[in-house]
Amino acid sequence: MRAMKGIILAGGLGTRLYPSTKAVSKQLLPIYDKPLIYYPLSVLMLAGIREILIISTPEDLPSYNKLLGDGGGIGISIRYEAQLRPGGLAQAFTIGEDFIDGSTVALCLGDNLFHGQSLTNMLENAKLSIEQEGGAAIFGYPVADPKPFGVVEFDDDDSVLSIEEKPQVPKSNYAITGLYFYDSEVCSIAKSIAPSERGELEITSVNQVYLDKGRLKLYRFGRGTAWLDTGTPEGMLKAAEYVEAIQSRQGYYIACIEEVAYRRGFISRKDLISISQKLEGTNYGKYLLSIAKEA
Ligand code: G1P
Repeated sequence: MRAMKGIILAGGLGTRLYPSTKAVSKQLLPIYDKPLIYYPLSVLMLAGIREILIISTPEDLPSYNKLLGDGGGIGISIRYEAQLRPGGLAQAFTIGEDFIDGSTVALCLGDNLFHGQSLTNMLENAKLSIEQEGGAAIFGYPVADPKPFGVVEFDDDDSVLSIEEKPQVPKSNYAITGLYFYDSEVCSIAKSIAPSERGELEITSVNQVYLDKGRLKLYRFGRGTAWLDTGTPEGMLKAAEYVEAIQSRQGYYIACIEEVAYRRGFISRKDLISISQKLEGTNYGKYLLSIAKEA
């Protein structure tokens, strides 16, 4: 069984965050104390994924490379590919085809923030199921207003009945979050779908193909999980407040990629100490050292 790979889509124009995104890519802006991309990156790492592709604009890729390099420092491998024109989320699988190279793959949108106790378990279960049985997995989350999202309708057994992109009249209050797991067929499926009315290769069209084949599985997040939007100034502020509230109360950081790498066994205690020493004098470095010294 080949290990699942991961893609983070960090392109887009970030027009709803203008002028903050005029000179800086949206996923490099901070959510409280760390760049936005740390949050989806930590989600893929929590799922146990160690080979990751970051897709962004040609102008922004050097900044991501400066931030994360080849990933070796945190025991993972990171590659980069350019999206020349924003053409929809499903482009990730045409741009990423060489990287995927016949493996199973997870896609996480670069602006999605997940946090919660049951998260790791659910991610591991979904990953294992796709690796062993194929198909695709989507993750539903209850929201007060599902209209701006993909929406999933399901029956009592959580079998998917329908999925719709930004429906006027949603059939449920479950949004489809920006995290998707697929078998290796996703590349040929992404090539086969037609652009939507807004001219984009929609991820919902890819998921519809899996649904039509009876191969789309839904995992539902409950009340104990946070899924936060960061696409607008208000969303960014609320997400930052959430992260600050949890971190200052518990003393544990959310989406600290070095900590995740250490806890998942991607790096050793010695590695973590040496990373923290290079960050000496910073609060982030002190935090990493405190984690390394935990019994
Ligand atoms: C995209 C997907 C949508 C999903 C959302 C989650 O929408 O098309 O189905 O619910 O991400 O963040 P977008 O944010 O690109 O409008």
